[in-house]
Amino acid sequence: MKQITIETPITVCQFNELDPAMRALVEKAKEMTQNSYCPYSHFHVGAAALLADGTVVAGSNQENAAYPSGLCAERTTLFAANANHPNTPVLALAIASYAHGHYSKNVISPCGACRQVMLETETRYAQKMKVVLYGEDACYVFESASDLLPLNFTANSLE
Ligand code: THU
Repeated sequence: MKQITIETPITVCQFNELDPAMRALVEKAKEMTQNSYCPYSHFHVGAAALLADGTVVAGSNQENAAYPSGLCAERTTLFAANANHPNTPVLALAIASYAHGHYSKNVISPCGACRQVMLETETRYAQKMKVVLYGEDACYVFESASDLLPLNFTANSLE
């Protein structure tokens, strides 16, 4: 018997320490929180994806009276990017949230289903996707979506 440990590299930094492209992407994610449709949770989430050709595709959480029919900001964004630009890799995804009249002090951590979709986006283009989580106090930067989902299930697992 043995124990193994999985380590996750995360860069923790202030917003103004991000490079200009990531700052712009975070600003877009923050802006998108205001387009959230969240009459049930009142928790506004915005996301913005930077594509390899420089295009930015953005989205927000979209809720539904039939609760499970709603979708998180990360997935509305990645599905829109993949649907409209199926041949263009996604280089980075920024995520921000807003509730009780202010942007979150701490980063929000994407749900499991969104992590799985992030991973699929990364594997389909064989291109690491940076993930930037925004918090007023600190930002978390993951160099690869797979860092958010260790021991993951991908197409390789089906072989
Ligand atoms: N939500 C997101 O959009 N992204 C996350 O990473 C976590 C949660 C949404 C889903 C729902 O509309 C609301 O936030 C409360 O869970």
